Amino acid sequence: MKQASTILGIESSCDDTAAAVLQNGKIVSNITSTQKVHEIYGGVVPELASRAHQSSIIPVIDVALKNANISLPDLTAVAVTQGPGLMGSLMVGLNTAKALSMSLNIPLIGVNHLQAHVAALYIEHQVQFPMLCLLVSGGHTQLIWVKDHMEMEIIGSTIDDAVGEAFDKAGKLLGLGYPGGPQISKLAQSGDPNTYKFPDSSLPEYQFSFSGIKTSLLYFLRDNSKENPDFAKNNLENICASYENALVNMLTKRVKKALKNLNPKSIGLVGGVSANSVLRNAMVEIGKTHEKECYIPDFQYCTDNAGMIAKAGSYLLEKNQFIDISTLPFSKSKA
Ligand code: KG4
Ligand code: ZN
Repeated sequence: MKQASTILGIESSCDDTAAAVLQNGKIVSNITSTQKVHEIYGGVVPELASRAHQSSIIPVIDVALKNANISLPDLTAVAVTQGPGLMGSLMVGLNTAKALSMSLNIPLIGVNHLQAHVAALYIEHQVQFPMLCLLVSGGHTQLIWVKDHMEMEIIGSTIDDAVGEAFDKAGKLLGLGYPGGPQISKLAQSGDPNTYKFPDSSLPEYQFSFSGIKTSLLYFLRDNSKENPDFAKNNLENICASYENALVNMLTKRVKKALKNLNPKSIGLVGGVSANSVLRNAMVEIGKTHEKECYIPDFQYCTDNAGMIAKAGSYLLEKNQFIDISTLPFSKSKA
């Protein structure tokens, strides 16, 4: 017999092929297959990403259903990332979801990937609204005013690169491979964050910019390597810790400013970079200081996953917000 609500979530916007099952509001399986094919290129190659999604999407859905101990006819809806993301990658997930929706005769729900990152918080928390949420990922850096589960307004964003890119670019410059974020954060644990200084930008309100700090790291490494070719190698931990510290300060400075001006009920941290422990701790501290609840997803729901897509989909399902078979993906960010 069909459960009251059994939603299959599908995510394929970048380099993770993911499927999850949400049963009556609870995640019962969450599978993510991360594509390794991009590592040697130092970044995601769009054409390779869509091909890899094509070969893994069915097996990933299969495992997600098996882990949830259900079969296709048990599904009551399918939720899928509609955008933003890489066009070819999005097409694979969206077309698979369309096929499932048509063949099983169940509603098709199109989910905004960024809203889904915020919805990752609802998997484990009863969020108090309004919430001030910092979204930090490989493609986006935003401060979001969240009025209700799926009602949000972007109040600040980056004018150039995302903070995830600032981590990944640094990883590349330091020869750490892709993605650089997790590697930098690991090395930083044994370094001193106050060894070197990196500049912040001075932009109005809650705007972010990370292109300057990336360039300053490039020049810093170039200048110091002139005198000592092994400079980066010999000071890796301290460089990583100082750079990470500068990025975290750039983020938290804006959060504190918005917190003071807008006085939300709670604060949140989401997106791939929310896996960073220094940033997590800093946000928890801000919450404590200002006596606000601070929500951060469990690690499996920080980086791209389908659990957050299914969860976001459940709120759209409640409002009967469906898409039809002719709906196209969108590649650029939509507010
Ligand atoms: O949300 P996400 O999985 O994908 C996008 O939607 O972009 O975010 C990926 C980003 C990458 O830039 C990666 O380096 C970063 O999240 N990241 C981290 C950590 N884990 C993942 N950055 C810093 N510290 C980490 N521990
Ligand atoms: Zn993401």
